[in-house]
Amino acid sequence: MINWVNNGKGLIGYRVITKEGDFIFEGEIGFRYKNNQFSIDNTLIEGPAVTLLNEEGATIYFTTNNPLKASVNVGGKTFTDKNAVKIHEIKLDGLESNKKYNYEVIYGDNSLNYSFKTAPKAGTREPFMFAYTSDSRGGNGGGERDFYGPNTYIVKKIAALAKYKEAAFVQFTGDLIGGYTNSAADIELQYSNWKKAVEPFAHYIPFIATMGNHEVVSYKFPKGRYGITMDKFPFETESSEAIFAKHFVNPTNGPVSEDNSKYDPSNTTVDFPSYSENAFYYTYDNVAMVVLNSNYWYAPSLKKSQGLIDGNLHGYIMDNQLSWLEKTMAMFEKESSIDHIFVTIHTPAFPNGGHSGDDMWYSGKNSYRPYIAGSPVEKGIIERRDDFLEIIVNKSPKTVALLTGDEHNFNVLTIDKSTTIYPEDWTKKKIEFSRPFYQINNGAAGAPYYAQEILPWSNGVDGFTTQNALVFVYVDGKNVKIEVINPVTFDVILEKDLR
Ligand SMILES: [Fe+2]
Repeated sequence: MINWVNNGKGLIGYRVITKEGDFIFEGEIGFRYKNNQFSIDNTLIEGPAVTLLNEEGATIYFTTNNPLKASVNVGGKTFTDKNAVKIHEIKLDGLESNKKYNYEVIYGDNSLNYSFKTAPKAGTREPFMFAYTSDSRGGNGGGERDFYGPNTYIVKKIAALAKYKEAAFVQFTGDLIGGYTNSAADIELQYSNWKKAVEPFAHYIPFIATMGNHEVVSYKFPKGRYGITMDKFPFETESSEAIFAKHFVNPTNGPVSEDNSKYDPSNTTVDFPSYSENAFYYTYDNVAMVVLNSNYWYAPSLKKSQGLIDGNLHGYIMDNQLSWLEKTMAMFEKESSIDHIFVTIHTPAFPNGGHSGDDMWYSGKNSYRPYIAGSPVEKGIIERRDDFLEIIVNKSPKTVALLTGDEHNFNVLTIDKSTTIYPEDWTKKKIEFSRPFYQINNGAAGAPYYAQEILPWSNGVDGFTTQNALVFVYVDGKNVKIEVINPVTFDVILEKDLR
């Protein structure tokens, strides 16, 4: 098809499928043809993808099958790897803001051409739009709906729609894949399948992914439904957090770890995994996005067997991350170029369908909490939810909405001071909201759907659907509105002014 006999080279796309027809992987490999002999060529086996977008550039990341020194040509400049590597992260800078650039990736004797647009200068306040979703782990129905990790059927439709609508970026908050494995190789294959699904679109716009409860590699002792499970160690190389950071290129401006918190069993040893690339912030024009991880150091069995093992509880924001959040929000409140803050976290503060028994509610039982060095921490899950809301609602008037997932549906919840948010027997302190705020849940990126449940705050729910959904957030100076679209049918699910 591509005249490989004369060109002396070509590219083969392939799929690995089980005997039963289940997908395992799809990829490409280049070949050379010379003197009637075939050989494997230098090939881009993943990417290139645009990330860390800013006013004067971005980082282009990709993987090659062989170690080599690759380069990127852009705007008359060339940026090259320092060493011959397989995993490439090439930082582009010195470009003009808010401008479309063609870029050429050169690897060995081969090259590929794409484009991206630099971010506008902070506080320009030109209209733009970004997209939000989460929860794309494999669904029911087989085929590409269950592509060894993700539901690539829906992921590709979501990514294509975001690119077509010219989203500035796509925020994707957790449960990209099925995960829940005790094998690093297994989860790495699943991450690769997710990245391959967004790849044709990530050449042009950033897809910023972070961790949920499925991005988990753990030790598992077989007892009970989840057994007894905990994050793998040594944390620097084996933890869920370390493997995630190896696969994604995110900002490293987040908290360090839970070391040096008041619960740290030793201040001379590393006792917790890193927050690097799984909790962070980024900005685009007059918007700040704060990305949190409520499944840090996650021990999946903690809910069923509190205290049997150390670890963090699904949905719980631990102390150091919370104090980092408070500082970060105060910084953006003071920053004059920022008008709107979005906070995104995998687990809703207020579940509405599928996770009333956990997230930040646990059926109204505050007793659930992390265990560190054999002891429970001071604050339970509902008290910690309130600490979190105090920061993002009462202390941060710029915060527009909390963007969540975990529950495989879409809805917008409005909470104000009249909403019931405590169990009937609650005797502890209650939070007093200084203003109404929104929780936008969109876990409708392809995971098996969850229907609506009735909870104390259900009157505030708008637009609930189990259709696949992509949320578009339109920012125009002081105004913010959302448009929610089904990526399969293009039906408009909801339009709503937020500000
Ligand atoms: Fe989840």
